[in-house]
Amino acid sequence: MNNITVVQCLQRASELESTSDSARLDIEIILCHILQKNRTWLFTWPDKILGEEQHVLFNDFFQRRKNGEPIAHIIGKREFWSLPLAVNNSTLIPRPDTELLVEITLELFAQDKPDQVRNCLDLGTGTGAIVLALASEKPHWQLLGVDKSVDAVALAEKNRKQLYFNHVNVQQSDWFSQIELRDFDVIVSNPPYIDPQDPHLDQGDVRFEPRSALIADNHGLADIELIIRESWDYLRNDGWLLLEHGYDQSEAVRELLCVNGFVAVETRRDLGGNERISFGKKALIKNPGKKSQESV
Ligand SMILES: C[S@@+](CC[C@H](N)C(=O)[O-])C[C@H]1O[C@@H](n2cnc3c(N)ncnc32)[C@H](O)[C@@H]1O
Repeated sequence: MNNITVVQCLQRASELESTSDSARLDIEIILCHILQKNRTWLFTWPDKILGEEQHVLFNDFFQRRKNGEPIAHIIGKREFWSLPLAVNNSTLIPRPDTELLVEITLELFAQDKPDQVRNCLDLGTGTGAIVLALASEKPHWQLLGVDKSVDAVALAEKNRKQLYFNHVNVQQSDWFSQIELRDFDVIVSNPPYIDPQDPHLDQGDVRFEPRSALIADNHGLADIELIIRESWDYLRNDGWLLLEHGYDQSEAVRELLCVNGFVAVETRRDLGGNERISFGKKALIKNPGKKSQESV
């Protein structure tokens, strides 16, 4: 195999441009991962020659990226809330937009004393992104992340261990089926919410992510509806429920929250200006839906 230098690798970005709109950055990330160096090093040492093993790896990673595989899957990690998280094809690659859900959750409890204990549940935890981000900010909280996928649970547990977060538990559960505690201060979720017919499912990174993490019936609203309905019984009075959803689902989600008795219902926009996070508080008054059931 001929010798190849760092700058020659970087020059191959043009070959990726038809499949990636971040071709140059992709190659930089691949090189940093293979060489275990930062980007400044790449620019400082453009004439460094890759070792034979590094060259083989580069060719393999380059080809996988050319085939459209997400860069996070190729290098096996993605940063979320400045935490380095392991990722794989068992669940969603954490997205920057989801950090908004973490921000709002922290904002809702901003008046707490620093050592205030709170119970938090993350439904559909995937890599553990949300629950681990909250854990990094709230060492006194008790946090539980659950996922239906056994492989996702193993991945979240691996990330939890790597971060030494002993105040986080991860377990398998089909939504609430295995949850015992019924007085959570806050429930957060980024559930599957894409309509199974959505053409975007055949484009970009999502082609490599499992459908179980992405799609939900009823135009993407089925899981959101179930979570809103069931959360009521798992929240303490004044507890909050926060949900990520599609840009065009905010009205429907707000309505579901209101119909199920939540108050102070609100939606926030992501960095792209789209309405993506809706939340509400369990009211002290009785849930009207439950009331009618109880009186039957
Ligand atoms: C959109 S991904 C979110 C992953 C992670 N929370 C994040 O924000 O990056 C949805 C997650 O919900 C999980 N999930 C799907 N159906 C579920 C169910 N019935 N019970 C629990 N988790 C479920 C999927 O396995 C997936 O990990």
